[in-house]
Amino acid sequence: MKHVLITGANGQLGSELRDLLGQQSEFQFIGTDVDTLDLTNKEQIGQFLTEHNIDYVVNCAAYTAVDKAEDDVALCYKINRDAVQNLGEAAHAHKARVIHVSTDYVFDGQAHTPYKETDAVNPQSVYGKSKLAGEQVLLKACPESIVIRTAWLYSAYGTNFVKTMRRLAAERDTLNVVCDQTGTPTYAADLAQAIVSIIAFSEREQTFPAGIYHYSNEGVTTWYDFTRKIVELAGLDCDIKPIPTSEYPTKAARPMYSVLDKSKIKKTFGLVVPKWEESLEKCN
Ligand SMILES: NC(=O)c1ccc[n+]([C@@H]2O[C@H](COP(=O)([O-])OP(=O)(O)OC[C@H]3O[C@@H](n4cnc5c(N)ncnc54)[C@H](OP(=O)(O)O)[C@@H]3O)[C@@H](O)[C@H]2O)c1
Repeated sequence: MKHVLITGANGQLGSELRDLLGQQSEFQFIGTDVDTLDLTNKEQIGQFLTEHNIDYVVNCAAYTAVDKAEDDVALCYKINRDAVQNLGEAAHAHKARVIHVSTDYVFDGQAHTPYKETDAVNPQSVYGKSKLAGEQVLLKACPESIVIRTAWLYSAYGTNFVKTMRRLAAERDTLNVVCDQTGTPTYAADLAQAIVSIIAFSEREQTFPAGIYHYSNEGVTTWYDFTRKIVELAGLDCDIKPIPTSEYPTKAARPMYSVLDKSKIKKTFGLVVPKWEESLEKCN
């Protein structure tokens, strides 16, 4: 039986993965978070991989407070870059395979067609820069790793845009939402399923095609249209008003366009990706 370690298992994606792997009999999984395995502690990681005979590591741990990161640079890099390097080095030494999660924020958002894995990166925020640095140190320390860039992640767990909009729409008569940022939401349960399918593929085909991949749900939307759908599905009566980004200033810059091209991940692993509207309906 293969042993799968999920780091950051109390986060949105980690929690979805825990739920999913808990139902599978072919893998034994162990979930850790900062209280049980702090990835900034290098020695602890190596010891943990050996003790638990880990075959796969799915790294869901991250510093994800995008605006706070602008002032909290050192901690953001410590978790999003240095801890990923620690993990990569330990995994390489232990011959464990790493699936690491990254972000659409590695792009500057100036494109008008979906971003491919080979497109030039140009992060515009501390968070985006630290995540890009994490990708780079991981692929250097442990070239046999898969990096999945995702975007607009939400789940029934944790704090996220969907849960915030449901709450605000229940409390208020009107909500102003940015209408000129385009992207695709990702239901964390779908991404978790894709990750489990990648591990199953690797076991079945006895190959682990390392490198960078893009994953989000299918389709394209804006935060404004996404919110309208969230409110409609929740049966709430709230007037959603479109506003430009200039009327909603944030400390960290967001990409204006961050649709990800998913051809590579779909073709390599034979994945079928659900449409964002259908997945939103499943998230309660
Ligand atoms: N959320 C999004 O919209 C989004 C979009 C694109 C990509 N991503 C990427 O997707 C991945 C999963 O995101 P998510 O939203 O599931 O994140 P999340 O909910 O913030 O979960 C991250 C988890 O990592 C833990 N963690 C922090 N520092 C750690 C450390 N030193 N050692 C071990 N664990 C640590 C956190 O614990 P604490 O809560 O105690 O800090 C938290 O439980 C991340 O790589 C993120 O960058 C997210």
